[in-house]
Amino acid sequence: MTSGGDAPGMNAAIRAVTRAGVNNDLEVFGIMRGFEGMIDGDIIPLETESVSGIIQKGGTILLTARSKRFREYEGRREAYEHLKRLSIDAVVIIGGDGSFKGANEIASEFDIPFIGIPGTIDNDLFGTDYTIGFDTALNTVVDAVDKIRDTASSHNRIFFVEVMGREAGFVAINSGIACGAEMIMIPEEKGRLEKARRFLTERARKNKSSIILVAEGLAEGSAFDIAEILKPEFPQFDMRVSILGHIQRGGSPSAKDRVIASRMGVAAVDALLDNQKCIMIGLSNDKIVHVPLNKTVKLHKTVDQALIDLVEEIATLKIS
Ligand code: F6P
Repeated sequence: MTSGGDAPGMNAAIRAVTRAGVNNDLEVFGIMRGFEGMIDGDIIPLETESVSGIIQKGGTILLTARSKRFREYEGRREAYEHLKRLSIDAVVIIGGDGSFKGANEIASEFDIPFIGIPGTIDNDLFGTDYTIGFDTALNTVVDAVDKIRDTASSHNRIFFVEVMGREAGFVAINSGIACGAEMIMIPEEKGRLEKARRFLTERARKNKSSIILVAEGLAEGSAFDIAEILKPEFPQFDMRVSILGHIQRGGSPSAKDRVIASRMGVAAVDALLDNQKCIMIGLSNDKIVHVPLNKTVKLHKTVDQALIDLVEEIATLKIS
């Protein structure tokens, strides 16, 4: 099953789980629409051929959802009954922390083990260096920001570009470095607004255009809110805002996402055959690792301080 926000590469993971399962004589089902489909018993058989021609597709062929009903005990009980009816004895769930929270919950109440595969563009899951979809999303952001830069520099404007990432700055910091953003605002770094003010003061002296990459989920609000705060203070600048939004979740997965999704899918089936219960398949130093599923939701992954420092080191203006 896939659950929560879709991510490019989820189909590659579904394909790998299905094929590795069938090749190891397991019976494989696909649960549609995440926990919603589990509650409704919307579950289909998957064969080798069912997953042909999907590795290059974005989104998820199993569809996905953020299920409110699954937060209630009654929803989870109904879901469990459907799994038992079909003699399903383990579930591979591809998703992020919200999905893993749900998986932990039902696994602690009923006799059904889950194997997690990290799939979210946010790359914010504890226990893994990498989550499926992150690389494709970064490339989408870089492509968009490169285009915005053409118009930003032609008009000598300051652009606030907002990227996704929920409450984490992994997408912002990595794509910001990759597209040479002049400044990056992420939730993990304090004193952002002050820093932006110092940056704009310096920038004003040079009269230069800039890209300021803003992570969503900042305490100050959206990129629009930040621009509204700063506009009156810096009337000399022509400021614009661009929210990249859901284009970051779509598109054909990059080679990296397809390869990692395939590796994780096979590792999930290997873990099942090995009778592992309630773990997440993670990647650490490019090696597959097993992490207790409950740890992935209790603990937080933090943005590497070295990356934040790197932004300062290669900035046009050293402002910290
Ligand atoms: O978790 C993936 C993500 O795209 C986040 O980056 C973003 O905050 C959220 O999902 C948006 O969710 P939705 O599509 O439900 O609005």
